Amino acid sequence: MSETPPPDASWSRRELVRTGAALAIPLVVAGCAATSPSKPKVFAPLVSKRLKIGVIGCGGRGTGAAVQALRADPNTVLWSMSDVFADRLESSVAGIAAELGADAAARVQVPPERRHVGFDAYHKVTDDPDVDVVLLTSYPHFRPAHLAAAVANGKHVFAEKPLAVDGPGIRSVLASCEIAKQRKLALLVGFCWRHHDGMRATFDALHDDAIGDVMSVHTTYHTSTLSKRPRQPSWSEMEFQMRNWWHFAWISGDHIVEQAVHSIDRLAWAMRDALPTRVTCLGGRAARSGPEHGDVYDHFAAIYEYADGRRGFHSCTQIDGTPSDNTDYVTGTHGRAAINGWNPESFVMLDRKGREEWRYKGENRDMYQNEHDALFASIRGGYPIHDGVRSANSTLMAIMARMAAYSGQTVTWQQALESHEALGPATYALGDVPLRDVPIPGKTPLA
Ligand SMILES: NC(=O)c1ccc[n+]([C@@H]2O[C@H](COP(=O)([O-])OP(=O)(O)OC[C@H]3O[C@@H](n4cnc5c(N)ncnc54)[C@H](O)[C@@H]3O)[C@@H](O)[C@H]2O)c1
Repeated sequence: MSETPPPDASWSRRELVRTGAALAIPLVVAGCAATSPSKPKVFAPLVSKRLKIGVIGCGGRGTGAAVQALRADPNTVLWSMSDVFADRLESSVAGIAAELGADAAARVQVPPERRHVGFDAYHKVTDDPDVDVVLLTSYPHFRPAHLAAAVANGKHVFAEKPLAVDGPGIRSVLASCEIAKQRKLALLVGFCWRHHDGMRATFDALHDDAIGDVMSVHTTYHTSTLSKRPRQPSWSEMEFQMRNWWHFAWISGDHIVEQAVHSIDRLAWAMRDALPTRVTCLGGRAARSGPEHGDVYDHFAAIYEYADGRRGFHSCTQIDGTPSDNTDYVTGTHGRAAINGWNPESFVMLDRKGREEWRYKGENRDMYQNEHDALFASIRGGYPIHDGVRSANSTLMAIMARMAAYSGQTVTWQQALESHEALGPATYALGDVPLRDVPIPGKTPLA
């Protein structure tokens, strides 16, 4: 797989010789302390160093990812954490400690002076010269700024999907990817299905011609509606939106970017990560109304066009009382597949008559743990994973579909990439923040 390469002889041997280090020799140079991006530190694999982990965004995924990072490598400690809200940070520390049990005292080393609260608090994590690896698990809107700060300070990164919510965010992420590559920093993105054993084997079979050439793909993410946290009298509008972030496109990117991007990433995967030339997308709000639902849609149906004439389709809904489906329907020249990651029985390839041609029979370990196992192995081994660019492309595929749905226009890849529409306020504080109108196709301009 492209995101988990074996040690790359073309550079790692050369770099190891140049730096005088070798995999078998305990390490000397730790390319992790803060340095200017223009003066990258010499990289060498971090064979025996105790790696210190920082977390930015201490909610569900921040808590889970911290545990997975600590389990991935016995020589790691949780060192520094930040969140906009103190209650989220404290419950995350408690959750991680409870999960680790007897190991917590040794592995969770986050005293009050390394618990940072506020919108700008992430700098305290990324600026900390002791931190080696940061987990970027806050809301999608903030990912580009957090990633930029992390790579500028020489940190290895785990970043949750999606990587951004708009074109300017994607351009920032691509610039950070370049810095990460130059500085040999690992950057692994939480498109977790790319690390699922059965899914990987199934997509490998697909690409090994199990059903011939892929002619068309339709991925679905049809699910129920979003939960809500009731407005509290003490909350400002910003706090209400932040605590109900899925309902606000500027924070989440809307559900096609925040949630269904997993399925769009698998559409891209089935298409061998070819970039679509343009997208047309239908969407709207059929069952959601009222300001408590912010400005997000509840359904999208996207048609991606490729330079070779193929089309890829994606549909997603968040509507209660409608059937769920989270499947990747792939049609090839010699057969078909209907792959559903939640159902390992679906890891099969069928011929044109529906007869089974291939079936995955291996194990299916925890894909979230697999991500961190791969990340830390790559840092230790001196072949830092980098799936940032591919993940930025999958994120932009989702963003361009949202842009097409909101405006009612067909949107090209270039238009999305060069878009100047920056969602959200210019500065962040727990006070007032405007509520956007729900976009109307044909009326809302394409920015
Ligand atoms: N890969 C997956 O399967 C998967 C599953 C769930 C969530 N996610 C992704 O993980 C991310 C987080 O989702 P979650 O479910 O953990 O949300 P969450 O609300 O449980 O946690 C996010 C935390 O980030 C904090 N935060 C927000 N902005 C911040 C900022 N600027 N600085 C510091 N902290 C900030 C919030 O206060 C909150 O505590 C999202 O991008 C989501 O799409 C991925």
